[in-house]
Amino acid sequence: MENSQAALLTLGFLLFLKGSSALVVTPVTDPVISEVGGNVQLEIKPPGVLGTVTWTFSAAKIPVVSWTETNPVIGAGYENRVTLNTTTGSVELRSVNLSDAGVYTFQGNIFTSGREPFNGNVTLKVDELITNVNVKPSLAQPIANQALKLTCEVLGSQTVSSRLWMKDSQPLSTSDRITLSVDNSTVSFNPVLQSDNGEYQCKASNPVSEVTSAGYRLEVNYGPEQASITAPDSAAEGSSVTFTCSAQSLPPCNYTWYFNGTETAQSSQYKIASVSNADRGNYTCVAWNSVTGRNTSVVKEFIVTGEL
Ligand SMILES: *[C@@H]1O[C@H](CO)[C@@H](O)[C@H](O)[C@H]1NC(C)=O
Ligand SMILES: *[C@@H]1O[C@H](CO)[C@@H](O)[C@H](O)[C@H]1NC(C)=O
Ligand SMILES: *[C@@H]1O[C@H](CO)[C@@H](O)[C@H](O)[C@H]1NC(C)=O
Ligand SMILES: *[C@@H]1O[C@H](CO)[C@@H](O)[C@H](O)[C@H]1NC(C)=O
Ligand SMILES: *[C@@H]1O[C@H](CO)[C@@H](O)[C@H](O)[C@H]1NC(C)=O
Ligand SMILES: *[C@@H]1O[C@H](CO)[C@@H](O)[C@H](O)[C@H]1NC(C)=O
Ligand SMILES: *[C@@H]1O[C@H](CO)[C@@H](O)[C@H](O)[C@H]1NC(C)=O
Ligand SMILES: *[C@@H]1O[C@H](CO)[C@@H](O)[C@H](O)[C@H]1NC(C)=O
Repeated sequence: MENSQAALLTLGFLLFLKGSSALVVTPVTDPVISEVGGNVQLEIKPPGVLGTVTWTFSAAKIPVVSWTETNPVIGAGYENRVTLNTTTGSVELRSVNLSDAGVYTFQGNIFTSGREPFNGNVTLKVDELITNVNVKPSLAQPIANQALKLTCEVLGSQTVSSRLWMKDSQPLSTSDRITLSVDNSTVSFNPVLQSDNGEYQCKASNPVSEVTSAGYRLEVNYGPEQASITAPDSAAEGSSVTFTCSAQSLPPCNYTWYFNGTETAQSSQYKIASVSNADRGNYTCVAWNSVTGRNTSVVKEFIVTGEL
């Protein structure tokens, strides 16, 4: 009993020695990053003359290539895609796709004073290229004092490591009113104001690409505001008079004229060719913005004096 226990302990100790004596080789680059379709070098430089080397992929230890001083044996699925450099033990992997991402483990031995085992691993990360980035507004026609969201839509890749927003080519300043989602995929304006007008862009990147969207021009619709009538306060009978209505508005507003409560014209101007006493009264202009849905009215009292 005691003997076999001692033998087991000795065996364990020897395995420990063997395990700890293998030289851990650090890859030249780790992780290696590639776009889908790219060619990568899994490069190692073991310090000695290469005796044997074997590469496997993932925890499942799928054979990639193995070499023991004869021709390299290429694993299934790696034919025509893998080249082993028998001087260094490095591997070139071509036309990588998403399923090639993972850990590649290598082990082998080199001739130093005797044969010395080495091992290590290198991680391959594969990403698709971002093909396009678009800024999409939540409303086709944003309206002042309402909420608005801009979304940064990324096409071509599922993995986006960062999104950055720019307004008029400067980094967008956020505030209590202008906020970003955690991943920067949306900007929320609560509410949107005319001062937000400008050109917005989103720049999306992942480890293999960086794409900036075309500019989205934000023009906040507003008004009508500050409606006013330009016209004389009075005019003589027989003279001609023009009433002009104007208001601040985007898009430009439509104007309707009322005299004593009756509609008289649908344009910014209302003209009376020859004033008569019956034209005396109150002229109302209603300015209407069909996008904001708002109306503003303004009234002017008009007096008719004696004949010219
Ligand atoms: C193997 O790698 C070494 C060192 O990087 C290089 O000098 C040599 O040309 C490579 N051999 C082949 C066949 O690519
Ligand atoms: C990646 O390539 C392997 C081998 O060529 C193939 O079996 C697999 O279907 C490919 N996967 C994708 C996601 O294209
Ligand atoms: C890869 O190598 C590192 C450093 O030698 C080691 O800590 C890690 O456990 C290895 N990972 C795998 C999956 O072999
Ligand atoms: C989000 O944008 C800010 C700058 O506005 C930047 O500092 C941060 O890194 C970005 N985060 C992501 C996940 O893109
Ligand atoms: C408002 O005016 C525009 C031109 O200024 C015109 O195209 C539009 O049809 C008008 N809308 C209404 C509802 O009158
Ligand atoms: C308009 O109203 C004024 C004052 O109420 C009145 O004097 C005038 O006759 C009215 N005109 C018309 C055409 O109704
Ligand atoms: C015009 O309106 C004002 C205010 O509503 C009123 O005081 C005035 O009498 C009106 N004038 C006419 C001519 O109707
Ligand atoms: C605003 O004015 C337009 C045209 O005169 C009218 O069709 C609309 O119903 C008005 N809307 C409101 C809210 O008063």
